[in-house]
Amino acid sequence: MLVGMAEALSNPQSVQELAAQGVTAFALELMPRITRAQSMDILSSMGTVAGYKAVLLAANTLPKMFPMLMTAAGTVTPAKVLIIGAGVAGLQAISVARRLGASVQAYDIRSAVKEQILSLGAKFVELLLETGDAEDKGGYAKAQDEAFYKKQRELLGQVIATSDVVISTATVPGKKAPILITAEMVAGMAPGSVIVDLAAERGGNCELTKPGETIVAHGVTIHGPENLPSTVPYHASQMYAKNVATFLLHLVKKGEVTLDMTDEITKDTMMTQNGEVVQPRIREALGLPVLSAKDE
Ligand code: NAI
Repeated sequence: MLVGMAEALSNPQSVQELAAQGVTAFALELMPRITRAQSMDILSSMGTVAGYKAVLLAANTLPKMFPMLMTAAGTVTPAKVLIIGAGVAGLQAISVARRLGASVQAYDIRSAVKEQILSLGAKFVELLLETGDAEDKGGYAKAQDEAFYKKQRELLGQVIATSDVVISTATVPGKKAPILITAEMVAGMAPGSVIVDLAAERGGNCELTKPGETIVAHGVTIHGPENLPSTVPYHASQMYAKNVATFLLHLVKKGEVTLDMTDEITKDTMMTQNGEVVQPRIREALGLPVLSAKDE
């Protein structure tokens, strides 16, 4: 059975009940970010759709055009777009904003992403920040302390103030999204500017974001969409279905469901097995002890 990690964390008892009924459950949000698992990665699929749609939402709201145009009525300068967090959603947003002709810059705390940002034709925002080893072994960002985020806000302030559009996607798995755009920074943006806060479902990267709502503050429109993929249902469902089908086929060997616990994909996504909750974060939420290697 497939279960959703967010729902499981908000109601861990329901996972325990599943385990008690002998159900073997998996959560695909726990898919490791390894090459072999890419075709099963539902978060990447939904991030791709969300990054694409976030740019369209911004373009639709901004009272300016995105591309540079040389017209008989004068030159239209390109819209300035800043992407904060260049993971799956952020990279897709860069590529769509570039295709619409905007001047795009992006920042990420994982230095490995710089090359990818440049290869998409965007400028990498260099901040004098000591990020050290900001990437975990799963390819995701590591959480930083509040002093780091304070410094990041100070350095990003100038770039945000001169941007027409900010699309923020900065998150760390399992954590509340860091505040990278304060109310004061919003007030420093030109009226008519647009923020699309894709981290809204984790509280938001902007202090003023209201998850699930669109508000206007200091003349700036702030979108806090929680489910953009559902606004592109055809391809979101097509990609999701492909991910699920590939995962189910992965569990079948010679026509039989075979759970190979030495396989990272099977092990990391498993929530319950043999009457027990095996997922460490759900066990912690239930107050259960950590499973030792021999119990697993
Ligand atoms: P991801 O994990 O691939 O990307 C997040 C990126 O943010 C990473 O590259 C990470 O290094 C970066 N990051 C973390 N802390 C940062 C910081 N302080 N400064 C700059 N960059 C930082 O995740 P993905 O798939 O791109 O999704 C991004 C967010 O969008 C997630 O929170 C996800 O839940 C959300 N999302 C929202 C949807 C919606 O409709 N609102 C739909 C799909 C995803």
